[in-house]
Amino acid sequence: MNSVIFVCLGNICRSPLAEGIAKKIIEQKSLHVRVTSAGTGSWHTGEPPCTNSIKVAQKNGIDISSLRASQITKNELQEFELVIALDENNYNYLKNLGAKNLYKLGSFGFNNEDVPDPYFYNGFEGFDKVYEMIEICVRNLFEELA
Ligand code: 4NP
Repeated sequence: MNSVIFVCLGNICRSPLAEGIAKKIIEQKSLHVRVTSAGTGSWHTGEPPCTNSIKVAQKNGIDISSLRASQITKNELQEFELVIALDENNYNYLKNLGAKNLYKLGSFGFNNEDVPDPYFYNGFEGFDKVYEMIEICVRNLFEELA
């Protein structure tokens, strides 16, 4: 696998975590894989990840504070060998946009479940759970495909 893009709705909570975790694994394993993330929506374009995602990543030794949100385009989609959707809505959006090698992140060890959207949670606990799920799945993905 040469390149992978993680896609959620806003590109400020879930997919930046997947990007940060993937980059850490790539570094640890000295792999050469291009990785980024994007959102299906444009509300947060140009913004850094949400405070709780920055915090939970930091707690786990990963700095995602310099990432900036962007909206996925059809052209960008073609640049990536592997497209990973964080939930079913993202998956369907990407399918309609023409994504080819498309999977849900939850298919890598979580029975194809959606990664729940923590944006609407009150408090930090949701982010801990979401982080754990994303980390397990991203690790499995690299075990299987890298
Ligand atoms: P994300 O979370 O898709 O994990 O980045 C969201 C962030 C913002 C919104 C929805 C989900 N929003 O509606 O603004």
